[in-house]
Amino acid sequence: MKIQLVSACALALSLASAQTVQPLTGILDRQGNRANMQQVNALRSRRLQHDFSDETAEQRATRRQRAEAIKKGFQYAWAGYEKYAYGADEIDVLKMKPKTTRNGWGATLVDALDTLWVLGMKDEFAQAREYVAKIDFHNDGGQLAKVFETNIRYVGGLLSAYELSGDSVFLQKAVELTDLLLPAFDTPLGLPWQMLNITTGQGSSETLGTTSTNLAEIGTFQMEFYRLSQLTGNATYHETAQRAITAMLENNNPQDPASLYTIPGLYPLDFDMMSGRFTNSAAYWGGGGDSFYEYLIKTWILSDFMLHRNLDLWRESIQAFRNYAVAESADGFLFPGFVDGTKFYPYVDTFTNFIPGTLGIASKLAGSDTYFSLAEQLLEAGYSVFAKMSSSLGAEAVRFVRRNVGSDYLQLSAQERAQVDRYGIVLARPYYVLRPELIESLFVMYRLTGKQEYADRVWDIWQGIQRNCRVPNGYVGTANVATDASSTGVLNTVDSTESFFFAETLKYLYLTFADHDVISLDDYVFTTEAHPLSRDLPFDGTFTSYAS
Ligand SMILES: *[C@@H]1O[C@H](CO)[C@@H](O)[C@H](O)[C@H]1NC(C)=O
Ligand SMILES: *[C@@H]1O[C@H](CO)[C@@H](O)[C@H](O)[C@H]1NC(C)=O
Repeated sequence: MKIQLVSACALALSLASAQTVQPLTGILDRQGNRANMQQVNALRSRRLQHDFSDETAEQRATRRQRAEAIKKGFQYAWAGYEKYAYGADEIDVLKMKPKTTRNGWGATLVDALDTLWVLGMKDEFAQAREYVAKIDFHNDGGQLAKVFETNIRYVGGLLSAYELSGDSVFLQKAVELTDLLLPAFDTPLGLPWQMLNITTGQGSSETLGTTSTNLAEIGTFQMEFYRLSQLTGNATYHETAQRAITAMLENNNPQDPASLYTIPGLYPLDFDMMSGRFTNSAAYWGGGGDSFYEYLIKTWILSDFMLHRNLDLWRESIQAFRNYAVAESADGFLFPGFVDGTKFYPYVDTFTNFIPGTLGIASKLAGSDTYFSLAEQLLEAGYSVFAKMSSSLGAEAVRFVRRNVGSDYLQLSAQERAQVDRYGIVLARPYYVLRPELIESLFVMYRLTGKQEYADRVWDIWQGIQRNCRVPNGYVGTANVATDASSTGVLNTVDSTESFFFAETLKYLYLTFADHDVISLDDYVFTTEAHPLSRDLPFDGTFTSYAS
């Protein structure tokens, strides 16, 4: 009897507080439903990673040798950065000079913190920590801040360094920087400006004089801001990120005949942040759209499966993606492309290679073989772009030729047709600038399935990077993936060593061969910049109980 009374009391209390406390934005889906707790509990106990206990001693030895080799590669690149550009945003490897590209706060150093930690480079991490403690985010280096990049590289890097090390200086710096970014959201609808004058809080678009932005740049704050709200007990960050999503949803209706948004869940890329309306009808899961979709599902995972709106939106989007944004190539690959109204463009940039990994995780959680198989097939298409090149590296963007769509081939120039005849694709942008996305998906799918082939492919790509991108003092891009330096005898370099090479590319390369419980997908979820955030911070409906 007594127990019943207590629980009735607790129920009354929770009902009373439900009336007074505003529920967090995103808890309710678009129909006003909450997550079903039985399903949530089932998801919480679902294991993502393959059980690797059947690994042979020989496999283990090879794997660990490879991990060591990649760690040496990182140390080689880090030594160049330490020597010529320590604390700079980037190292210009070829000129052996520092480069200021992200306000001079040390983008490479901050982005690489968690990689240093994961690689066990404790001294370098401790040294970087001292540097971070002294960064002055109020000094913007005379540059406008790119709000999206500042969040994913700096805020994400600091949050992950905080979670891995427990050192509160990283959290303090993350809060300090995010508070400087918040004025970018101070707009009529709460949609963020692309660029921000950190000193004045004045926002602007990248194309001066306009108010344009894109999908990724309004939707890629959710993970970092949700976690910041948890760690600070302050809901402002989460609400700010969610308000941008709400504004997008409220101002675009696919049923409205005047809307450029026509396929529910496939959002156009271009956007006016003042009206909140799409200004173009082209939808894409590559550059400009990619991490919007990625953050729908990953923020849901980070929220312990409680942000029901994220799941609702992701479900609609992934169905629309499968129905409209995927095509079959003449040589039998399923690949993602651009969708513009009823038109499909077989243009595939390397950013789309994030899809198999994210979809693999989502479909394994959902127990969907159909979508898991789609993830595996998309991975084959993405890998084919790398595997067909003598460099073992993939072009920045390619064009596929669809099965039974003659015009895809006929409209090409003679030179492009020659490429299709030889490789099955057009090398629309033939360079490789050390990007991580395919490696990321191979790593994730290896951890999910245990398929050795996926790890072997990562190793082949690493060999390609070693042959074509390694120069004195570090690594740079290569201008044409169709040629390989080991046969031509010359390196065809592109001056580009962005911070993501240290944060993402080398981390995913290493983790593929690290012991399988190092940053397990059952314990962490990676941000779009490969910063692992812990999944072990349970949801508490208001954020208040986290603040210590
Ligand atoms: C930021 O605004 C101030 C005041 O208008 C201006 O002096 C400064 O040049 C601006 N910064 C940048 C990077 O444009
Ligand atoms: C939450 O954070 C925002 C942004 O920094 C700040 O303006 C606000 O005062 C904070 N709220 C509380 C209760 O600390």
